[in-house]
Amino acid sequence: MKYLKQMLAHNKKRSLFGNYVQQSWASLWVIEQMLSAHKPDRIAELGSGNGLLSTYLWAYTQMEMPSHMIKPGFMTIDVDLSKSKSTLYPAKKADIYAKETVQKILNFLGNGTRPFLLVDGLDPKSAEVNLYAPDLKSGTVIFAHDCILEGSTGAVKKWLFPESQIDWKHVRRLEPYYSMGVELDTRMLALERV
Ligand SMILES: C[S@@+](CC[C@H](N)C(=O)[O-])C[C@H]1O[C@@H](n2cnc3c(N)ncnc32)[C@H](O)[C@@H]1O
Repeated sequence: MKYLKQMLAHNKKRSLFGNYVQQSWASLWVIEQMLSAHKPDRIAELGSGNGLLSTYLWAYTQMEMPSHMIKPGFMTIDVDLSKSKSTLYPAKKADIYAKETVQKILNFLGNGTRPFLLVDGLDPKSAEVNLYAPDLKSGTVIFAHDCILEGSTGAVKKWLFPESQIDWKHVRRLEPYYSMGVELDTRMLALERV
C-alpha cells in the first residue's frame, strides 16, 4: 500500500523517461493511437518546451524508420531551447512565424509520404495551424494543442483557442482522433489537410 501510494503520487507528476511531461496521459494515448495507425514518416513539432514529447516523437521515428531511409524523420523548433531536457533529438532554435522557418518545416514535411505536424508553440495555436496548413500536402495529419470547443463553460483560460479560429478551407476534423480528443478532454485538436 505504501508503495502504491508513492507510485500514484509520482504518477501525478506525470513523468516520461523520468522527466515531467507537459501533455496529459490522455493526449499521449491519442497520439500513440494515431502514430500506430498512420505511421507518419516525417514528424515536425512547433514548440519543443522541455522536450519530453519531442523525445517520445523522436523515439517513434527511430523505431519506425529503417536506417536506409532519409533521416532525420523528426524535427522540433523553439525560440528557447534552454528548457530542453534532452539532446537526443534534432532541435532548432527558430521562430515559428519567420518566413524561412515556415519554408524549412514545409520542405521537411513535404519530403515525407505521411507527414505529421504537432502544433504547440505560441498562443493561440490556431494562428500556427492557419499559417502552415495552406501549404501542407493533402493528407498531412495536424494535431493542435489547447483547443476548446465552442460554447465551453467553466474556467476558459485565455490561451485556449476556440475551433472557430481555424480556417476550415484547408483542414477537416480527423476521426477517430478528433472525437477521442473531445471525449478525453485532451484539448488536442486532430485535423487533416484536405
Ligand atoms: C506549450 S510549450 C511546448 C510543449 C511541448 N510541445 C510539449 O508537449 O512538451 C510552448 C513552447 O513554444 C515556444 N514558443 C513560443 N513562441 C514561439 C515562437 N514564436 N517560435 C518558436 N517557439 C515558440 C515556447 O518557448 C515554449 O517552449
